[in-house]
Amino acid sequence: MRVLVTGGAGFIGSAVIRHLVLEKGYEVLNVDKLTYAGTLSSLKSVEGKPSYRFLKIDICDAAAIASAMSIFRPDRVMHLAAESHVDRSILGARQFVETNILGSFTMLECARAYWQDLPPRDRSRFRFLHVSTDEVYGSLGAKGLFTEATPYDPSSPYSASKAASDHLAKAWARTYGMPVVVSNCSNNYGPYHFPEKLIPLTILNALEGKPLPVYGNGANIRDWLYVEDHARALDLVAERGRVGETYNVGGRNERSNIDVVKRICKILDDLHAIGRPHENLIQFVADRPGHDVRYAIDATKLETELGWRAEESFETGIEKTVRWYLDNEWWWAPLRQGYDGRRLGLLKAGAG
Ligand code: NAD
Ligand code: TYD
Repeated sequence: MRVLVTGGAGFIGSAVIRHLVLEKGYEVLNVDKLTYAGTLSSLKSVEGKPSYRFLKIDICDAAAIASAMSIFRPDRVMHLAAESHVDRSILGARQFVETNILGSFTMLECARAYWQDLPPRDRSRFRFLHVSTDEVYGSLGAKGLFTEATPYDPSSPYSASKAASDHLAKAWARTYGMPVVVSNCSNNYGPYHFPEKLIPLTILNALEGKPLPVYGNGANIRDWLYVEDHARALDLVAERGRVGETYNVGGRNERSNIDVVKRICKILDDLHAIGRPHENLIQFVADRPGHDVRYAIDATKLETELGWRAEESFETGIEKTVRWYLDNEWWWAPLRQGYDGRRLGLLKAGAG
């Protein structure tokens, strides 16, 4: 099995590649532009293997993508490359439109040309997995869950750009008969997570005795999934998901942001004596514009059709994650030099 993974130097993409190379024994080509969020050091465990290759390519570059496909000849494309941070999308949406929409369009068009020229047996085996987010569904109130039938209602430039790319992917399946499958997953956390997102930012700020910013009143709810559970789900959906279908991925682990931050503080109180109680560092700060109140995934389809289950609960996963950051300063210290955790995504006074 030869798998072309886009965005493989990112948080989830690197977990997918480690899974495919180390657990499944697949051949993988990682195609990544190496933006600020791309970190090849996340792939240390596979970098020397003959079954792993890397090409620094922008997914908007059709000629480079077409050439990568014709040389590598993938059986499967797993498309994860994206601009992924909501707060950055508020400050500047252009890169999100370019990479998430135009880049996905380019991936679909290049894959279509490649797939159409395959011999019939390879053509029917080929799959294009478009990896997306539950944020396309918008915000839930206190009750209910996102299902695959929930109408799209994105709030942020990030989620709007992902929604657009999902529509393109599904249109390519309907119009061209391309074997596309789409997955929509809830918030991930775990090792190798860029420290701009809530969980790694909280861990590193707490370690350094810096304030822990909680947006608004901290009551917003996210449904957390350990990244390695997501990587297994993506492999399964690409392998056995029905063509043209969408699969929601989530671990049934809803937590309010303030509970997440307090849990991290408690774990650090046990593992890292300096600065305890870490909860004293919590600061409630101005809310994010357009902040979705609650996300929660109904993963019944993935569980019943494909037999997937999340292996980590939030309790086991968050403890593993905190320990990982304590043990792997070599990975995150250089990233903190480039981005020190300052607040992103606030509109200038009067502009919003
Ligand atoms: P990430 O920001 O950690 O990594 C994105 C990767 O894509 C980086 O390696 C970056 O260099 C690369 N990239 C960006 N623009 C590119 C371009 N133009 N060409 C080639 N490579 C480019 O993101 P992530 O958290 O790993 O998310 C991966 C995918 O999963 C995204 O599509 C995201 O929308 C989706 N997703 C993320 C989450 C989450 O909680 N992080 C949840 C559900 C879905
Ligand atoms: P984030 O990790 O940015 O993921 P997403 O916006 O894609 O869900 O944020 C998770 C939640 O945490 C979200 O409700 C915003 C909130 N948040 C904070 O309260 N403080 C922070 O410093 C960050 C980055 C996020």
